[in-house]
Amino acid sequence: MTTALFSPFMLGDIELSNRIVMAPMTRNRADKDNAPHSLNTKYYQQRASAGLIIAEASQISPEGVGYPATPGIYSEKQIAGWRDITDAVHNEGGHIFIQLWYCGRISHPVLLPDHQTPVAPSAIRPEGDAITFEGPKPYVEPRALSSTEITTIVSQYKQAAKMAKNAGFDGIEVHAANGYLIDQFLRDGTNQRTDEYGGTVEKRMRFLNEVLDAVCEIWPGNRVGIRLSPENSFNSMSDSSPEEHFAYFIAQLNPRHLAYLHILEGDMVTKQRKVNYRSLRDIYNGTYIANNNYDKNRAETALDKGDSDLIAIGVPFIANPDLVYRYKNNLELNIADQNTFYGGDEHGYTDYPFAN
Ligand SMILES: Cc1cc2nc3c(=O)[nH]c(=O)nc-3n(C[C@H](O)[C@H](O)[C@H](O)COP(=O)(O)O)c2cc1C
Repeated sequence: MTTALFSPFMLGDIELSNRIVMAPMTRNRADKDNAPHSLNTKYYQQRASAGLIIAEASQISPEGVGYPATPGIYSEKQIAGWRDITDAVHNEGGHIFIQLWYCGRISHPVLLPDHQTPVAPSAIRPEGDAITFEGPKPYVEPRALSSTEITTIVSQYKQAAKMAKNAGFDGIEVHAANGYLIDQFLRDGTNQRTDEYGGTVEKRMRFLNEVLDAVCEIWPGNRVGIRLSPENSFNSMSDSSPEEHFAYFIAQLNPRHLAYLHILEGDMVTKQRKVNYRSLRDIYNGTYIANNNYDKNRAETALDKGDSDLIAIGVPFIANPDLVYRYKNNLELNIADQNTFYGGDEHGYTDYPFAN
């Protein structure tokens, strides 16, 4: 039997103690200023035995928000809150990146400064409801960004990258998955622009490339990860040819020598998996992190077959702060309570029991 899952891994210049990554998970428990606080510190500290924690999606500016009570990474109070978290994780011997987020059309005027209209590459309304402090509200038609506004958002990514450094993170993950702003530019179902940011795959990737250029002025490439979700239909997303288009995007990432490529494989909504991820993984020259519905056995098989270098685990980490210990010792897992995933207090957050 393999022990690869529990062996160290060099992620660029960082030595991870094992190959299990905690996937980024929004828990909607930031304070009224969208700042992390002591409860969040306890949550991450409890999970520090993951080889790497990717902290929950965090908006890069007040305009980037899309849900209630999500943390930001733009104010001094937020930086101070995150600093306590990174210190706590480091004190336990762990490592932690932060996921940089701009929701774009997955938002609602009631969540945004001055009740402004959410923005997107094109004025295409998502199906479904935004989650707001006043309950669900139908998504509105977003406003298409001008190229000047795109430049402003790119500069917000750079500023957030700087703040992440001040907050003591080991690196950043650019959230280009799951139907948020960068993904809205990448996929042709949401990007119908006819300017330099839409049309061809090359132009649809331009915004992402500008963001990566900007954050790599702050961090070396090997401290910058990226998350993609080629066929995830979550948040009303679609693309005419995901495998072909993402093969292009991934090949373009190679010369950047990033920390990793993190892929949410398959479709979270339909549970289908049509794209050949092994072939995408083979296009990529660097570290590949596979995610979506992996358990210990699937993770070990993927590592054995060379399908992935690291495995990101989401929901099981919610319910099992000591997931690595439990996997290692073949212990039973606590079951996650979906009712406490988003928002609330310590219940379903920091009160899941450790095995010993
Ligand atoms: C409560 C919850 C919050 C999530 N928040 C994020 C997020 O902030 N950023 C992100 O990229 N994915 C997010 N996801 C997706 C997870 O990172 C992961 O891709 C998904 O749970 C599938 O992995 P799993 O089967 O190991 O749970 C979230 C998932 C859950 C269940």
